[in-house]
Amino acid sequence: MMNKSKLKTKKNNEPKTTSHEWDGIKEYDNPDPFWLRLFFYIALFFALVYWLLYPSWPVPNGKGFLNWSARKELKDGLEKIDKIRNKYQENFDKSTFEEILKNKDLLKFANAGGKSAFQNNCEVCHGKGGGGNIGYPNLTAGAWLWGETIDDIYTTLKYGIRSGNDETRDSAMAAFGRDKILDSRQIDALTRYILNLNNRDYSNKKANELYQEHCASCHGKNAEGGKEFGAPNLKDAIWLYGNDYKTIYDVIYNGRAGVMPYWQGKLSDSTIRQLAIYVHQLGGGK
Ligand code: HEC
Ligand code: HEC
Repeated sequence: MMNKSKLKTKKNNEPKTTSHEWDGIKEYDNPDPFWLRLFFYIALFFALVYWLLYPSWPVPNGKGFLNWSARKELKDGLEKIDKIRNKYQENFDKSTFEEILKNKDLLKFANAGGKSAFQNNCEVCHGKGGGGNIGYPNLTAGAWLWGETIDDIYTTLKYGIRSGNDETRDSAMAAFGRDKILDSRQIDALTRYILNLNNRDYSNKKANELYQEHCASCHGKNAEGGKEFGAPNLKDAIWLYGNDYKTIYDVIYNGRAGVMPYWQGKLSDSTIRQLAIYVHQLGGGK
């Protein structure tokens, strides 16, 4: 009963519409719900206050009434970090490599800084974590071309290898084939000789003579490598360019002269020292 009477009143008293009509569907012209309107005004008020307090587009000095700026917040944050870091930094800069290796906190500091600098500057060539790529030495293998002490590594980083820097590490393996120092038969013999070295097979007398004459001065009498020349050990399992016949033949024929950029002037001395410590640890820290 109640329902019926309600329907009736509705019929008599048609709700107001906006007079928009689509296919018989009409749009009511009801007021917005109170809560929605309230929310709208609160949001409007909030936006206005926020706009005045914090820098936003139309404020003339670009700062807002609180004088806040993202730049200032970043600066304050960095100053805070610097303060903490400076405590270690000063100590780090005063200490020798030996002292740093003995001091747990400084070593941690060096490794953290070194790791991040390594990711930013070195991984492009040396691979993730220093694992190496063809032509770019694996720095975790503990087989060093130019020496294994932190001082050796520091020198390599500072001046680079064949980098064009005045004090760069330098040496040149001849292009024995291209420059007609050896003929293809001799290069073939040497290639087989080197492949055999890895089986400790020194039986080929002729090839051994060739090796001693042309190669031993840099790579060592027993192919153990020569660190003054950055000449790799040729009988370990670690290869800069590869250990298949074709690659080794090509190295002897064309020579090789990998280039490592120098970092002096591009990175701070402190960062280079951190890197030297970090890289030294990567290679086993001997
Ligand atoms: C453009 C590529 C490139 C970048 C970038 C690079 N290196 Fe090298 N690095 C090389 C090459 C190539 C060699 C090997 C040079 C050679 O054949 O003797 C090398 C050699 C080295 C060596 C000597 C390894 C040994 O066995 O003695 C160290 C140490 C080293 N890099 C560390 C670094 C560190 C640390 C960085 C970052 C600051 C870095 N490299 C950035 C290309 C690069
Ligand atoms: C002047 C010194 C020097 C002489 C002499 C020399 N080499 Fe090298 N050799 C090097 C250097 C330096 C490298 C590393 C090149 C680089 O880092 O790009 C190298 C690299 C190599 C490699 C690549 C090793 C790898 O790990 O991939 C082979 C193989 C090689 N030499 C064989 C020979 C043979 C064979 C001879 C003699 C015919 C010879 N070398 C003579 C300096 C020399």
